[in-house]
Amino acid sequence: MNYKVGNVLISEEDIVSKVAELGKIIGEDYKGEDLVVVGILRGAAIFMADLVRNIDDRVNVSMDFMSVSSYGVSTTSSGVVRINKDLDNVIKDKHVLIVEDIVDTGLTLSYLKRVLLEREPRSLALCSLLDKKERRIADISVDYVGFDIPDIFVVGYGLDCAERWRNLRSVYSVDVLSQD
Ligand code: XMP
Ligand code: MG
Repeated sequence: MNYKVGNVLISEEDIVSKVAELGKIIGEDYKGEDLVVVGILRGAAIFMADLVRNIDDRVNVSMDFMSVSSYGVSTTSSGVVRINKDLDNVIKDKHVLIVEDIVDTGLTLSYLKRVLLEREPRSLALCSLLDKKERRIADISVDYVGFDIPDIFVVGYGLDCAERWRNLRSVYSVDVLSQD
């Protein structure tokens, strides 16, 4: 398949102000606390980098990362998730915030949540830049959401199509150019 970047769905300007807003709320919610921010590689890397810089220094922020992949067909998650890279640090008794680029069916996050809760963190919350609510299968609530989006495939600001376009500053739809 051949793809090209389509229309802007969320502009750089809107992303910048939303990430500032989320960082401010998270900063307020965790003030005076230690917080382990867990980014899910690779999609959340860019969002996470901007988000943590919008959490003020009343929060003692540390960063850790996980990489997961779902065993599944094409872009549909199967709900069975393989951990390719686990956290470097122990989260027992820590406040943990998982940061994702997008929640789609919710199967990845609900699995991750189960795995991390077994490690007995003090608390576990979820933050996602984008939420495709109408595709939800797993019953999962996301504590901090940037934008609700319709059921279309999007790229940019960390999100990719076959590893392309993560570097774009806005979020775009993707158009199919040809089937070959
Ligand atoms: P689930 O369905 O488990 O999966 O919530 C979430 C993961 O699916 C990927 N995903 C996308 N990636 N543009 C992307 O670049 C999209 O529109 C999209 N929708 C789902 C993504 O990897 C996410 O972590
Ligand atoms: Mg992802």
